Amino acid sequence: MEYKKYYRKTSLKQKGVGSFFLAEISKKKPKNFLEIGVFHGVTARNVCELLFKIHGNDFNYIGLDLFEESDENKNEVIPNTTFSSNPIKNFYYKYIKRQNPYSLEAVKELLQKFNNNVHLIKGNSNKLLSKIDMSKIDYVFLDGGHEYNTVLNDLSCCSEVINNGGTVLCDDYDLQQAPGVRRAIDEFVKKNNFNCSIICSGRFAKIEKN
Ligand SMILES: C[S@@+](CC[C@H](N)C(=O)[O-])C[C@H]1O[C@@H](n2cnc3c(N)ncnc32)[C@H](O)[C@@H]1O
Repeated sequence: MEYKKYYRKTSLKQKGVGSFFLAEISKKKPKNFLEIGVFHGVTARNVCELLFKIHGNDFNYIGLDLFEESDENKNEVIPNTTFSSNPIKNFYYKYIKRQNPYSLEAVKELLQKFNNNVHLIKGNSNKLLSKIDMSKIDYVFLDGGHEYNTVLNDLSCCSEVINNGGTVLCDDYDLQQAPGVRRAIDEFVKKNNFNCSIICSGRFAKIEKN
């Protein structure tokens, strides 16, 4: 399936990466998908379109994000949430839509077609992820905070998913500006004796049970 951008920003903008990502998910056909780090909701919408194609209405998507910039998360690597380098998109969101595409409301609107399947949570994964029931989640896309401690926390909270036979796909394994991602993944995999495949030319780390 082709990865669409919906006139917004996404991590998976590099040519071929979005389609690679969707092909990975297609292999597993998950029914209960968790994305940590939703940003503008572009990947969320693509995932929902894909899961709808596979399962009809019989799927769930849970998305967790800070959905705002504040002092509490100033150390996290958050992509530029505005369109400062694209005056047309900037004008569209500021004066026509009058909406911040990074807000919870904007992402809800982008996903409204799947209203009954989608559950969005606003907050910090370091505080909220441990409260999410992981027993039914069968696929996690981990793309939230990129600090070592945050990635380690997020992975630890997802151990149950892997132990139950599910998959955790981590973005930015090779991101040089965020070496904590790789460090946390390598330590977590070693400690738990999980299987980790580095795919998509080093970009994604796919963690599963051995
Ligand atoms: C790289 S973006 C996610 C991109 C998105 N997955 C996509 O495919 O377009 C990272 C997101 O994680 C969020 N984030 C950073 N630290 C977080 C934390 N501790 N808890 C929850 N979300 C966090 C940021 O607000 C940002 O929206």
